Amino acid sequence: MKIIVCRDKAEMSAVAASMVEAQVKEKPDCVLGLATGSTPEGMYALLCEKYAAGALDFSKVKTFNLDEYYPIKKDNDQSYAYFMNKHLFSHINVPAENIHIPNGECADPAEEGPAYDALVAAAGGVDLQILGIGRNGHIAFNEPDEALIMGTHLTSLTESTIEANSRFFASSDDVPRHALTMGIGTIMTAKKIIMMANGADKKEALSYLFNDKLTAAVPASLLKLHPDVTVICDEAACPDSAR
Ligand code: GLP
Repeated sequence: MKIIVCRDKAEMSAVAASMVEAQVKEKPDCVLGLATGSTPEGMYALLCEKYAAGALDFSKVKTFNLDEYYPIKKDNDQSYAYFMNKHLFSHINVPAENIHIPNGECADPAEEGPAYDALVAAAGGVDLQILGIGRNGHIAFNEPDEALIMGTHLTSLTESTIEANSRFFASSDDVPRHALTMGIGTIMTAKKIIMMANGADKKEALSYLFNDKLTAAVPASLLKLHPDVTVICDEAACPDSAR
């Protein structure tokens, strides 16, 4: 587990954007795994700037997002499809057919999950996966539970995640109770993973990447089994055990 401790969120965003830039330059037809949430917003803004400055070309890149609320319409301004369009896709030249996000409008979530994993596999797997972390240690929407699920699947959100994400909705009643999410197994097939975290409320969850425990109660702890994870965090989120 590598860790890069940054002064603040701006520096965290810049370091992460540079790693994505390096990946796209090294392999122009790479597969990027993308995350939503407030954490990666600054990184996306920097990637848009680099593209506008002519420094990056996304024309051969494929993308797979981690998760999406269910059910939700793509044009709902709280859907992750809307978020990605607003913060990244509408500003860069990634072809629409290369963009993949679990379909929050699908009729049968039981079919959507395996079909999504098959698309990831057919693309050759994710080269670089961006992850955030929930305050309770969730990754994508793999919530703390007795058992974690390998593949992309429909899941129920915990009360703590509904409460945390309600800041984006008119009220917590408006937060969808379910989501489609890549499973831990899907995430672990990525060749390289970047975990971004900022703010003191992420410190405890992040500490589980730097202790000796593997537990389904903190899904992010499973990332310790992956051979190439880089944590990029700010000072406030940096666990004492990682210093
Ligand atoms: C959401 C997403 C995660 C994200 C996390 C943290 O529920 N499903 O992919 O990493 O919560 O969000 P934020 O970056 O806003 O703190």
